[in-house]
Amino acid sequence: MTSGARLGVLASGRGSNLRNLVDRGYRLVAVATNRAGCGAAAIAGELGIPLGLFPQRRFPSREERDAAMLGWLRDRGVEVVVNAGYDRILSSDFVAAYAGRILNVHPSLLPAFAGGMDAVERALARGVKLTGCTVHVVTDEVDAGPILLQAAVPVLPDDTVERLHARIQAEEHRILPEAIELIAQASITLRQ
Ligand code: GRF
Repeated sequence: MTSGARLGVLASGRGSNLRNLVDRGYRLVAVATNRAGCGAAAIAGELGIPLGLFPQRRFPSREERDAAMLGWLRDRGVEVVVNAGYDRILSSDFVAAYAGRILNVHPSLLPAFAGGMDAVERALARGVKLTGCTVHVVTDEVDAGPILLQAAVPVLPDDTVERLHARIQAEEHRILPEAIELIAQASITLRQ
């Protein structure tokens, strides 16, 4: 059983986390993207989830882009925002408007390999034996908000970025829904 919270997903990539949430019965009421041609946008189209396009070039600043996106998400009654492969940094006003209710999934054991979209490549290149994924609350500091859940994934001797990322994503698909429940059911309290 899911909490039934109204979720809005922000995505720029393939959209496997989005699809996983839909498959698990989550209530997706909005998908916002900065990349019209991304996999997540196609999934939203296929499933009839309202899709909002917010490419940076259409807006004079990050603040104006996010003000438009915030208004659009609020109009759809979004209660919890999930960054699932979203490759933009959110403005402070956006983060404040959904304080404590924006989650991000990152493909490393934060604080290792924070920042950027190439955490899996960097972990493999660095030769770590254990990596994984993290779901954390979004704050103004990139990839540094309170950690809710993590899962460890061993790096195998013959791993490629694709193989390692696929195993990490299998764990993302398990812990992201769990983290959403923690937030949606208000079963955790965040302290400053
Ligand atoms: C995930 O690996 C996530 O950790 C990272 O971007 C990827 C998104 O994957 N932030 P998908 O688009 O949900 O398949």
